[in-house]
Amino acid sequence: MRELAPSLLAANFYNLKGDIELLNKSHVKYLHIDIMDGSYVPNISFGTDIIKQIRKNTDLIFDIHLMVNKPENQILNLKDAGADIVSFHPETTDHPNRVVSEIKKNGMKAGIVLNTHTHESVLEYLIQDIDLILIMTVVPGFGGQQFMPSKLEKIKRVRKMIDESGRDIILEVDGGIKIDNVDQVIEAGADLYVSGSGVFNPDGISNNVDKFYEIFNK
Ligand code: DX5
Ligand code: ZN
Repeated sequence: MRELAPSLLAANFYNLKGDIELLNKSHVKYLHIDIMDGSYVPNISFGTDIIKQIRKNTDLIFDIHLMVNKPENQILNLKDAGADIVSFHPETTDHPNRVVSEIKKNGMKAGIVLNTHTHESVLEYLIQDIDLILIMTVVPGFGGQQFMPSKLEKIKRVRKMIDESGRDIILEVDGGIKIDNVDQVIEAGADLYVSGSGVFNPDGISNNVDKFYEIFNK
């Protein structure tokens, strides 16, 4: 079952309420929430207070993408803010296995993010414990960048790793995914599709969501 995870980063911050209400009325089940610290990536997005406010107004599954150094410092804040899934880049901590177990101990699902330069071999000693793998198809830090087709083979390889593990792990892709290029990512075998500028744009949130699901269900 394929699902869309609209990326909050591209929402209208001057009218978040309106955008969340439209998502609540749509087919969408997930909301992708990018947290950037200006250190691991050269951009700052928003913190947990904003997430808490949104949590009061939606039942969407909060899919948190941490782009911060020392993700271990954010786990309790995120739990308190109502996060459901927390994914981090393994190079941002000295102890990825410990971060995975802390996230799960706090009742959330744990994900590992593969940056564009990160080899999937990093999953070897993590795959037995994680719930999600997020593959970057742009260099993280900014919305609205071009999808990197060179990552399609990587998505296929990780799909195979998941299938061979026999575990129930969600394969998520993030960066530059649009209605007109999602077909090739579907073919590569992803489950969960992040889209920021492909959802929050002048064509309209509801219209874009409907189009993605039409393609998913084809
Ligand atoms: C990039 C973020 C993405 C971004 C996606 O650092 O991790 O989630 O918001 O936005 P688009 O779909 O516009 O590339
Ligand atoms: Zn993201």
